[in-house]
Amino acid sequence: MLKILVCVSGGGTNLQAIIDGIKAGNITNTEIVGVISNNYGVKSLERAEKAGIPATVLSPKDFADRAQFNEAFLAKVKEINPDLVVLAGFLVRIPEEFVKEYSNRIVNIHPSLIPSFCGVGYYGLKVHEKALERGVKITGATVHFVNEGMDEGPIIAQKPVAVEDGDTPEVLQKRVMEQAEWVILPKAIDDIANGRIEVVNNKVIRKA
Ligand code: GAR
Repeated sequence: MLKILVCVSGGGTNLQAIIDGIKAGNITNTEIVGVISNNYGVKSLERAEKAGIPATVLSPKDFADRAQFNEAFLAKVKEINPDLVVLAGFLVRIPEEFVKEYSNRIVNIHPSLIPSFCGVGYYGLKVHEKALERGVKITGATVHFVNEGMDEGPIIAQKPVAVEDGDTPEVLQKRVMEQAEWVILPKAIDDIANGRIEVVNNKVIRKA
């Protein structure tokens, strides 16, 4: 059974997709053992509570500096002791030490087709604003393992989504979530839980 910790910052629709995926049997061999939010009072926490998942808030604002937050974050992760950490809309730069220690055991969902519209400053709605500004006709979402670079780890899955005339960032965000994020993130977790993928030379390959 793959024990996963889901880290969130806001609405938690991706967390919900994972909860629902497990319930529906689309994600097998998987149990959510904890949720960490960096924000108080967000919908993600309600979703965790409703599903009976223990949730913790760790806000950088409650610590004297980033080093102390990082230390507390790592300690909490170790206490929960997951096999896999899922960054599901977790909009905090995660500690480098944590990335090193959990190499190929942290996945992130990003709302674009990496390497487009990713890296520093590209998160949440901003990604869709930039895609519309550039006038791309196709965007999408990516699930990837997290390494020391920003949005640079091995890509597990991607799914394209059409941009339509008259899209606002909000409309495009919703379409990308519905058509791509809520599909590929649960599927990637199921693939990991069932040993279907591995990382070779910094690339994800499907096992024969
Ligand atoms: C999602 O669109 C996710 O891809 C994005 O934040 C949103 C969170 O929504 N993540 C990033 O931009 C990471 N760079 P949710 O809280 O409803 O899952």
